[in-house]
Amino acid sequence: MPERLVVSDATRVFPLELDRRYPIVVRGDGAWVEDSSGKRYLDAMSGGSMAATLGHGRRDIIAAAAAQATRLSYVHNERLTNPAREQLAAELVELGPPGMTRVRFTTGGAESNEMAIQMARSYHVERGDTRRWQVISPAQAYHGPTMATLGLTGRPGLQRPFGPYMPAHRHIPPSTWRFDPSGRAALAALDRVLEDVGPENVSAYFCEPITAAALPAYSPPERFWKGLAERRERHGFLICYDEVVTGLGRTGHWFAAEKLPLTPDIIATAKGLGAGYAAIGAVLCADHVYQAFANGTRRFTLGHTWDGAPLSCAVGLKVLDVLRSERLIERVRAKGPRLRDGLAAALDGIPLVREVRGHGFLLGVEYVDPRDGRSFLPPELGVARRVDLTAMDLGLIVYSTMPTRDGFAGDQTLFAPPFTTSDPELNEMVARFAETIRTVARSLEGQLE
Ligand SMILES: Cc1ncc(COP(=O)(O)O)c(C=O)c1O
Repeated sequence: MPERLVVSDATRVFPLELDRRYPIVVRGDGAWVEDSSGKRYLDAMSGGSMAATLGHGRRDIIAAAAAQATRLSYVHNERLTNPAREQLAAELVELGPPGMTRVRFTTGGAESNEMAIQMARSYHVERGDTRRWQVISPAQAYHGPTMATLGLTGRPGLQRPFGPYMPAHRHIPPSTWRFDPSGRAALAALDRVLEDVGPENVSAYFCEPITAAALPAYSPPERFWKGLAERRERHGFLICYDEVVTGLGRTGHWFAAEKLPLTPDIIATAKGLGAGYAAIGAVLCADHVYQAFANGTRRFTLGHTWDGAPLSCAVGLKVLDVLRSERLIERVRAKGPRLRDGLAAALDGIPLVREVRGHGFLLGVEYVDPRDGRSFLPPELGVARRVDLTAMDLGLIVYSTMPTRDGFAGDQTLFAPPFTTSDPELNEMVARFAETIRTVARSLEGQLE
């Protein structure tokens, strides 16, 4: 075993997958990371989780963090506040969709989503509508690994063995080409669920406006969004967007909500706010949500130790500053379609590839069984895993999944480079990825007869 890889029996870490070999990454610079043997990888996944939106090794963000830590690194938010927290909240309200007026900070995506669930439920309770608790969400989603956020997906593959802890939230199928390209079936499913649980018991509809890992770069058709807005109006539930990935520029807009035909009541975000330099998330809410508390108990108290800490908020402020001063969101908006087209052209003619989707620098490649061009690939072929391992061999980091057992998506790859990736680096990512897929397709020859 080369020393740049760690396996489960040679570490005190409890790894996520005991049969996977993990490269030991020792440094990063821009869109590149390097392992302990000196092998360099192009990071088409912004640190692996899409968080490192500004690339690795940014001295300006490190300097902002150091300056804040020297002045004041930490105070808790329960009895104290701090200038970085105050300013970051004010800036996020300016950048968010119109009508968002308050921000609560967290330390990550699942926490932001949990807080959004609690905020939605508390909003109704504050208004005396204590029956509303149930959440409806698309089945093919990922909102985090905590019990409450696992309950927001309808994916038995993720929930097992935690079924006994899962809240009885309800789910609808995604409107993909495979199941429901028009969005009609999803709306009909939403109506059935509303009728079944009683719309007076529904607290929120919860979704990613543009999906990340669970169904890369997928968003329902306009008909669905309009129908959802109508039903919110009619039934009085809230709409929460999980913008943990899409927030802060990933899709070429500050928030993906900007481009959709409805404005949510609550937005949960995280990853790109800290850009991999601090663990920070945020929940933005519309003024009517805040006013329910202002006119009610005037309390919404649960939170974590690091919420709104000076150090993480100072990083958030510097991240916003870099996004603005380097016009990176404009860059992602301009380059995203070219990157999508470039990927599609490079993969053209490979029968394994069914669809290349893209919104800004959030791109997805969907694979199908080449024998009929539409079925899921047999799971035992492990195509997603082959893609990631082959890419890594070729010095490229992507992220592939195979949620086939959950019923709504097969093998697929997520491609989400840092916004700062140069044009030649983007081209090189595409070239390495196309080589990866051609290599995987060759390795499947003879196994798909
Ligand atoms: C869309 C989405 N929501 C929530 C989360 C959970 O965020 P975290 O891992 O920061 O808790 C993730 C993480 O990948 C995500 O992709």
